[in-house]
Amino acid sequence: MSGLPHLGISSNVYPLEAADLAALKDYDGPPIPDEALPDDDVLLYIRPDGEDVLLRGRRNVDSAASGDARATLPARVVFKPSIAKWNLVATLVRTLRNRHRYHGTAVYHISPRAVRALGLERAIRTLENPQLRKNKDRAASMRRLAASLRTRGYDDARPINVMLCRTCGRTDSLRQGHHRVSACLECGIDRMAVHFSAAGALPGCIARLFGRRGAFALPGPETQIEGARVILENKYINDRFLEGRWRGVACIVKESSKAVWSIGNEYRMGSAMHAAAPTVVARPLAWRHAADGSSAWVATEKVAGPSLAELLERGLSTAQADAFAADILTLARALGSLGILHRDLFADNLLLDSDGHLKAIDWQLAIDRALPREDPWVKRHWKFRYVVFGVNRDLGLGVWNDFLALARLLARFPQTEAVRAARAELEAGAGAMTYADPPRGLDRLRLWLYGLSLRMQMLLRGRRHRKYAQLERRWRTVRGEWKEDS
Ligand SMILES: Nc1ncnc2c1ncn2[C@@H]1O[C@H](COP(=O)(O)OP(=O)(O)O)[C@@H](O)[C@H]1O
Ligand SMILES: [Mg+2]
Repeated sequence: MSGLPHLGISSNVYPLEAADLAALKDYDGPPIPDEALPDDDVLLYIRPDGEDVLLRGRRNVDSAASGDARATLPARVVFKPSIAKWNLVATLVRTLRNRHRYHGTAVYHISPRAVRALGLERAIRTLENPQLRKNKDRAASMRRLAASLRTRGYDDARPINVMLCRTCGRTDSLRQGHHRVSACLECGIDRMAVHFSAAGALPGCIARLFGRRGAFALPGPETQIEGARVILENKYINDRFLEGRWRGVACIVKESSKAVWSIGNEYRMGSAMHAAAPTVVARPLAWRHAADGSSAWVATEKVAGPSLAELLERGLSTAQADAFAADILTLARALGSLGILHRDLFADNLLLDSDGHLKAIDWQLAIDRALPREDPWVKRHWKFRYVVFGVNRDLGLGVWNDFLALARLLARFPQTEAVRAARAELEAGAGAMTYADPPRGLDRLRLWLYGLSLRMQMLLRGRRHRKYAQLERRWRTVRGEWKEDS
């Protein structure tokens, strides 16, 4: 038996207003080991014997709350079950479970569109289709509700209630508020109040027995992105790219079922960088992920384009060269001061925006040097990690340096005074920016064997084979001998 405390974990991540979370106190009870907790950045804790508290994510919450007053953050809810771990009957049988139900103490703000997209409702109740109960005229009360919402807005004293781990002790669902959600959506009200309740949770080992993929499936971005249309499909680690509008803002959505963690990472790294250098980083708008880790998507404000790659092909004017060199320096300084490493800064990931600035995109596999983490899928896929992905191949396997990557881009510009000065600044600062996480153990062996197979293919196919150049490039990469031409 594990000695971990029995905790319930919400099946969804809730986009809650940061200000509500920031107002909570920090948890100061007996320490809860990390292994008992999910790895989300923001954890809200509710319990039968105390007030709601913040269990993790104070920094994220405070920084989000200090910006946009209505900013939301994805929070997972952890709760202390009021039903004992062994008492599966009370966890699973509704009438017994209801006797143990308790409510969280705080009220949070959430978008009704998020509630709908999370699939929390057990039935969709519309103005035309209210729940019928005895002889009560629910249609009339539904009309009164809509009228009151239109004139007075949402009354926070009447939060909807989400019960955590309600279905089969595992899945959250809406307990109270079906009519309110629909009425808000119909009246165009985008902010409502919610509180959480809970009773029991299936112990982790049993929940895993039932573990059915898709049980916590994420509704696709189409449910929240207006006018979503697919623009790219089946890229290496991402399933789809879509274009549409998020709350009226033109955006690009990236969706992945492989590198799911990296999607949240793109949102976090992109947001931190955008806050520090808004003119040169595309603005992340929202992200969502399925509770079972089966997929995630992130929406980023659309940058008009074209990419720096296209611009370089057409040839830069000296005025453009000066302006872009300044942008590249702004970007580099923000990377340096936040300690963030992009790892894939090349001309395709810098797009020219309509404001005349280059903006960096694709923060998916960026690394926070203070807390380096690699996406689990990328970690397992050594070929992707060391051979396919990223720039700086000339530095050796698993070594990255954004300043050198940016300096290499500047080397392709017309060499104006400003461009040369920018290159010099980057080259001077590059020493401190090297990040090395070279292959170890089995990965080294795999790469060595892969190198051997590439070498054999080169010998068998001969120099004139159409794939020879690619084989040679990969072989040199694996040997750490690749020289990138500037
Ligand atoms: N915010 C954005 N604005 C405009 N186009 C974008 C944006 N994000 C991505 N794209 C387009 O989608 C392509 C792929 O996106 P990117 O994030 O670079 O993923 P990948 O890892 O596949 O390179 C980009 O090269 C660009 O053409
Ligand atoms: Mg890219």
